[in-house]
Amino acid sequence: MKHTIKKLLLAAAIIATPLSAKVNEDVAVPYVAFPIKMGKGFDTVQAQCLMCHSFGYMINQGKQSREFWKKKVEKMIVHFKADLISKEDQKIIVDYFFEQYGNGKLK
Ligand code: HEC
Repeated sequence: MKHTIKKLLLAAAIIATPLSAKVNEDVAVPYVAFPIKMGKGFDTVQAQCLMCHSFGYMINQGKQSREFWKKKVEKMIVHFKADLISKEDQKIIVDYFFEQYGNGKLK
């Protein structure tokens, strides 16, 4: 019985250690799991797409079709009222995502 509790405490300590280690670090910037790919149109994405959520939120979708990215941009505009984005910028943004995070398929 005693042995089990010791084991549990040990397990808890192991789990808790990395967390407290992170908190004690000076650097406040969170670890970015997804490196941003620079490319044509990135400045537009940065200007239009980052006011509501982070970049990781967009690209954790993985590599997708052109249609997928187009639909996502439309979703942002229709559902989340990101409607200040001009038609021109929308195309630039879709092109950027398809080029950098596309799967090569149009549909
Ligand atoms: C006005 C705020 C706003 C702007 C601007 C915005 N988004 Fe979003 N976006 C959201 C919200 C809110 C969610 C979360 C939806 C959810 O959790 O279901 C989201 C989620 C996403 C997702 C995750 C998948 C999904 O369907 O929810 C992707 C991809 C995405 N946005 C792409 C973009 C791109 C690309 C742009 C630039 C064209 C953009 N967003 C601009 C509000 C915005």
